[in-house]
Amino acid sequence: MTPFLRKIASWVFSLLLFLQGGQMLHVNSEKTVNDAFLPGAVWTDTEGNPIQAHGGQVQRMTVPDGSGGVTETYVWVGENKNSGHMGNPVAVYTSDDLYHWTCRGDVLRPVSSVSEIDTDPYFENLYGELDETQKQHVVDCIGTDKVIERPKMLYNEKNGNYVIWFHSDDVTGSNPNYPYDVGMAGLAVSDSPFGPFRFVDRYRLNECPSNQIDCFPFSKGEARDMNLFLDDDGTAYIVYTSENNKTLYISRLNEDFTGLSGTVYGEDYIRLFPGAMREAPVLIRQDDRYYLMSSSTTGWASNQARVWSSDRIFGKWRNDGNPCEGKGRTVTFDTQSTTLFRAPNGQWIYGGDRWNGDVLSDSRYVWLPVTFENGKLTIRWENEWNWETGDHRS
Ligand code: DGJ
Repeated sequence: MTPFLRKIASWVFSLLLFLQGGQMLHVNSEKTVNDAFLPGAVWTDTEGNPIQAHGGQVQRMTVPDGSGGVTETYVWVGENKNSGHMGNPVAVYTSDDLYHWTCRGDVLRPVSSVSEIDTDPYFENLYGELDETQKQHVVDCIGTDKVIERPKMLYNEKNGNYVIWFHSDDVTGSNPNYPYDVGMAGLAVSDSPFGPFRFVDRYRLNECPSNQIDCFPFSKGEARDMNLFLDDDGTAYIVYTSENNKTLYISRLNEDFTGLSGTVYGEDYIRLFPGAMREAPVLIRQDDRYYLMSSSTTGWASNQARVWSSDRIFGKWRNDGNPCEGKGRTVTFDTQSTTLFRAPNGQWIYGGDRWNGDVLSDSRYVWLPVTFENGKLTIRWENEWNWETGDHRS
């Protein structure tokens, strides 16, 4: 988005907030972010530093227990925006109670130059074996001036390892001022969720079949905003915005979670809502129904969410409309979707980013309770709440 369009989007957004009677703000409370969810407040980790895990994903996951075995805990993976817009390391935090988060550090780090690979033992260990062209390719993909956004992680039980998929982007020769012109999905792998993750490569994904109308035929297989979903049967899917952000795709991953399962339309992947311009997708399963939440495409400004639902991933999807109810519903309570997950008692939680486009590291997190009412995913605002006592009708 150009600066001018960004300004217009921000004015439209302010007008929308004004018409709704004010922004969703955190109100002063006796509680702290370590004993309740305070949507929109600065959320600090166990060291007292603001959590840097934007555009992220929270899930209960198998992790090493530190004594050679494994245990389960909540893992929050996301963009560390202390570096601003570009070259965001991927950070990981863990928690047992969802309020106290321990920083496990930057698990996938951007690389500034080939000489950094040759001189810094951290990078030498990961990429030292590569030849000069391959090292340059790593720098070209995850350099400190590249887009590394919306990282998501999965544990691959078969291999006992972890994959991170993320939105990998950059300018191109034909579009030197637009850092989102490459439109690819990046992959990194590690034996531990706490890293270090080794960047493998970045890829274009499935393409519009020739018997369907491609909304952006000039650039095939694009992948930008994305998410991962692990189904109950162990099958993993990547959901992403493609065709110049006009159409969402869901593609099944291979058994290693390191690539696509294939290219057969309806068996390996599906195109959804062509031309609807959705991004920030999140896919979940509740009982035997799948729910796909997404935002519209307005840069860092928030907009109206929408949910579609279906009995089968590669089946027919029903438009369930805006999941948000009450004041702030037309701008997703000033957030953009990034994760949906369950607390230990089964309470579903919506996690959204409240972006601060001027100071991205000061973007906030808004976690709200989710209910399923008459088969529809529903989100309502809370000034402060606890998952233990939240309304968890489902
Ligand atoms: C919206 C996307 O959802 C974000 O991840 C980021 O790419 C911004 N656009 C950049 O404007």
